[in-house]
This record gives sequence, structure tokens and C-alpha cells, in this order.
Amino acid sequence: MDYGVLGRVRWSTCPEPDRARLEPLCFPSPFPYDIYGSMSGRKNPSPYIAPDLYDLLFDSLDFDIAYWLDVARGAGGPVLEAACGTGRVLLPILKAGVEAEGFDASPAMIARLKDKARESGLPVRAEVADMRDFAMGKRYRRVLCAFNGFAHCETIDAQVAFLRRALEHLEPGGALVLHMSYPGPGYWSERDGKAVLEHEAPRPAGGKLQLWDNRRKDVVGQRQDSEVEIWELGPSGRPEAVHKFSTSQRWVYRFELELLFRVAGFARWTVLGGFDGRPLRAPEDQMVAWAFKA
Ligand SMILES: C[S@@+](CC[C@H](N)C(=O)[O-])C[C@H]1O[C@@H](n2cnc3c(N)ncnc32)[C@H](O)[C@@H]1O
Repeated sequence: MDYGVLGRVRWSTCPEPDRARLEPLCFPSPFPYDIYGSMSGRKNPSPYIAPDLYDLLFDSLDFDIAYWLDVARGAGGPVLEAACGTGRVLLPILKAGVEAEGFDASPAMIARLKDKARESGLPVRAEVADMRDFAMGKRYRRVLCAFNGFAHCETIDAQVAFLRRALEHLEPGGALVLHMSYPGPGYWSERDGKAVLEHEAPRPAGGKLQLWDNRRKDVVGQRQDSEVEIWELGPSGRPEAVHKFSTSQRWVYRFELELLFRVAGFARWTVLGGFDGRPLRAPEDQMVAWAFKA
């Protein structure tokens, strides 16, 4: 399984869904609006207006949590998570007693994060804001951007705008820490138009949820455009509902990222190949970049 649409982490192939069984059960999206629709012209809404589904699928995803906890604990000052979603990373950091805040473009994701923080008795500052133009009114020791959040900056202008805003929000000597999957040859050679099972999770009512990604890849544009289906399968494996979304991502390579850091005004940077601090060498590596303010 991989996490391509919301954050590609690794690959595998899975059988395609049995569309003949599913189609009669498809219903129009219940969501009335698309927060990115005006930018993208997509026909389905963004997956980030469905934070309940996001959490059912990804709340238990913890491949990076120990790393972010270490980053936050070692920051020596306040931490900001950009594109924090429903708090998969931010809430464990707050639970660890670190002063941390976050923002996300999706009001629905932020509302759910606040609900979860309230239930856990954790005071949190979490704002609705765009990565390309945010102003938290304070400076931080670390700005975090986890789980391919930076891939939602789809143009050079958007990438530079985010990096400049992040730099402005850092204290002198502070660092932006950013995780992106590395788009290697295996990814680009994967056949377009074939649904990929990215992720599965138990469904509270019994059965399971499956996230299928029908993606089109643009090698030159370094883009992935995805039609996402989240299937609800009953205890017998029978499909009971499907939720359809559209999303897109822009991948970056190592030296491109380094150039972006330079253009944005960072003083120095290092690009690692995983959460264990290894150098970035293999296309299957994860890209974990640290960019420091002077
Ligand atoms: C893959 S999720 C990651 C969420 C969280 N960081 C995590 O690790 O679970 C990407 C997040 O980016 C947010 N996002 C997308 N475009 C954004 C933008 N322009 N500004 C701020 N957030 C954005 C989405 O709403 C979503 O919550």
C-alpha cells in the first residue's frame, strides 16, 4: 500500500476495485463546496472537506510521529505546523507538553482539530490560513510541514510564497523542517488510469474503509492529479458507499528544493533521505529537509 494522494510513502500493487458492484451504490458527493475549486476547476470536492474520513483513514498513521516529536522537543521554543490538518502531528506534540500552534486552509480540518484538542483537554491555537499567505503574528523556533503538505504548493510562486512566509515566522537561527516523498522512477513509470489502493483502515460500523487513487501523472510538470474514491465496505466486504474527491500535488526534487530555499532567503539547509537522518541517496527515500534562518 502507499499513500499517494494525501502523501505518498511507499508502493505496492493491489487488485482494482470491482466497479460493476460499486457503481449502483455511488451517490453524488454530499459536500456542497470545494475549497480549492476556484483554483483548480476540479469536478469533485477536495478530500480536506471531509475530516472525519481523513481521521478514520489516517489517525493511526504514525510512521513519522516519533520524528516530529523529537523535532518539537528539541526546538527549544515554540513550534508552528503549517497545513496541520486535523492534528495527526500537532496533537501528539501538544500532548508532549511542547508549545505548538498550527494552521490549515481547510476550515473543516481545523474545526475537527479543535474538537479533538478540546476532548483531550489540550488548549490549542489553530487558524484557518493559506500556506502562501499566512500571518500568525509571532515567531517560532521551528516551522514544520509534514506528510507532503508542501506538495499542495503547485506553482513556483506558491512554493516561494510559502517558504518566505515560513522564514518570516522563524526566530533567528530557527528552522523550517519539511517532509516530502521523493518521486523516483518507480512512481513515474506506474501506469496511469489504474486505481491504486493507497490505504485501508477499520470502519467503526464494521468492515473497512479503502482509499483508491485514480491518478494521472505529468512527468514534465512534476504533477499528480488524482480522482480519489473512499469506499465503505461492510463486514461482509460488500461496498456500502463511496465518496469521491479530487486533488493534485506538485513534487519537487532535491536540488530544486535547495534552489527554492536559496531564492526564499534561507541561510543554509540540509536535505536528508529519511526520518533516521540518512543522506538522500535512493529514489525510494523520503526527503526530510531542514532550512535555517540566519
Ligand atoms: C496530507 S494533509 C496533512 C495534514 C497533517 N499535516 C498530517 O500530517 O496529517 C495536507 C493538508 O494540507 C492542507 N492544505 C492544502 N492546501 C493548503 C494551503 N494552500 N494552505 C494551507 N493548507 C493547505 C489540507 O487542508 C490538508 O489538511
